[in-house]
Amino acid sequence: MTSLQHKKITAFQQFILSWYAKNKRDLPWRQTRNPYNILVSEIMSQQTQISRVVPKYLLWLEKFPTIQDLAKAKPSDVLKCWSGLGYNRRGLYLQKCAQEIVTKYNGIFPQIEKELLTLPGIGEYTASAILCFAFNKQIAVIDTNIKKVIAVHFFKGIVPEKKELTEFAENLLPKGKANEWNQALMDYAAQELKSEKIAIPKQSTFKNSNRYFRGQILKYLVANSKASLDDLLLQFNKTVDKVTLEKILLGLLKDKLVVRTKNNIFSLP
Ligand code: ADE
Repeated sequence: MTSLQHKKITAFQQFILSWYAKNKRDLPWRQTRNPYNILVSEIMSQQTQISRVVPKYLLWLEKFPTIQDLAKAKPSDVLKCWSGLGYNRRGLYLQKCAQEIVTKYNGIFPQIEKELLTLPGIGEYTASAILCFAFNKQIAVIDTNIKKVIAVHFFKGIVPEKKELTEFAENLLPKGKANEWNQALMDYAAQELKSEKIAIPKQSTFKNSNRYFRGQILKYLVANSKASLDDLLLQFNKTVDKVTLEKILLGLLKDKLVVRTKNNIFSLP
């Protein structure tokens, strides 16, 4: 990092933290480090306005004060408590997640991202929120609000690609203050950048990407049960070259998603 970039980042950190000191929202999950409470708040906040989440969050914790209470609740009670938040599936996933933490981890949250990601309903965002807000890990938590702050202040309103975005967000973290910082950016975007528009470049390369062809190969094998390399080349009709296709097949073999016979016929395991 150049010293100019360093200065710009330090100035931005001071600007945001002093804005936050004056404008911080008093949200009940900011007064706890309990990972269960944090999990509930984060799942509820996805696609639901924060002002609607607060009363639901408080009621939820009265009804299911601990992860064990939620794990053993009747799903119909879970849904009743979830009503008004939308996407019922999220409420049920939250219960499934609680059940897995109780049965697999004895009710103790794992503190490793990889393990959190195996739990129902927990994606990259929620995993990082739990690690930062409950366990004070010094990591960037990137939701749509934080993407917005970074895009507006540093990238002319265009959200950078994931890798660049993540690296940038990590560079912005003030030492030892990740928890406060991530919450501050969320509040700042929600209150000060409401009318800002940002552009999120589409994963325009997806249709022609390896991931796309991996999916297409599996789809072909489900329908046709087996295929040679030539069958697949024919199927994809020159949208992918032979060398690339071979590489993608090797990847699938390595991940044990397909198997290969001695005479080079591919099928599902
Ligand atoms: N949106 C999602 N998580 C949030 C949090 N912890 N604080 C404020 N807004 C949020």
